[in-house]
Amino acid sequence: MLIFGVLAAPEPRVLPNKVVILDAMNAAIATSLERLVETLGNPQPQIYQRLYAQYPDTKALFVLDTDGGVRGSMLQTTLETILDYAAKDRLDDVSLSAWRSHHQGYDVEPDTFSNFFVIIRDCAKDTLGESWSAEMEHAWQGLIHAVRDNAKA
Ligand code: HEM
Repeated sequence: MLIFGVLAAPEPRVLPNKVVILDAMNAAIATSLERLVETLGNPQPQIYQRLYAQYPDTKALFVLDTDGGVRGSMLQTTLETILDYAAKDRLDDVSLSAWRSHHQGYDVEPDTFSNFFVIIRDCAKDTLGESWSAEMEHAWQGLIHAVRDNAKA
């Protein structure tokens, strides 16, 4: 799985006055995922366990994915979407809408699709425990809000 490769810190942003800052809020998303991976290694098993616990019907959808490759690729795409948002402070709405529509072909409801992001957030939050920060909470709420807005677009 390529997850370790995509967990680079977001690019610093250059403001008009030439002050270079790192968007501290959204950098907190990348930090939370880095800590998740540092703690669990590959978080794929825990994330999918959470998915099946919350949406038991989804387990059957992956029955042909005997080596976990499709689920790995799906998680990778979701993490890339999250880190892209963290770096740019906006979602790639066109791509996310396309994936959301594509998933209706698997009978995955738009709200369920959005909740995959919530499941990843909850996995990171529970894993980090006391080191989960107010910045992480705030930044993830912004992301989840943007993902839910994308469903309405
Ligand atoms: C709870 C929400 C979701 C469910 C239940 C779900 C379910 C599925 C299913 C059933 C497949 C096809 C499995 C197969 O071909 O055997 C799939 C593939 C895929 N999903 Fe999801 N999905 C969810 C959320 C997401 C999200 C949020 C993204 C990305 C933003 C995503 C990205 C992908 C990708 C990239 C594939 C294709 C993987 C490949 O064939 O290599 N999924 N998903």
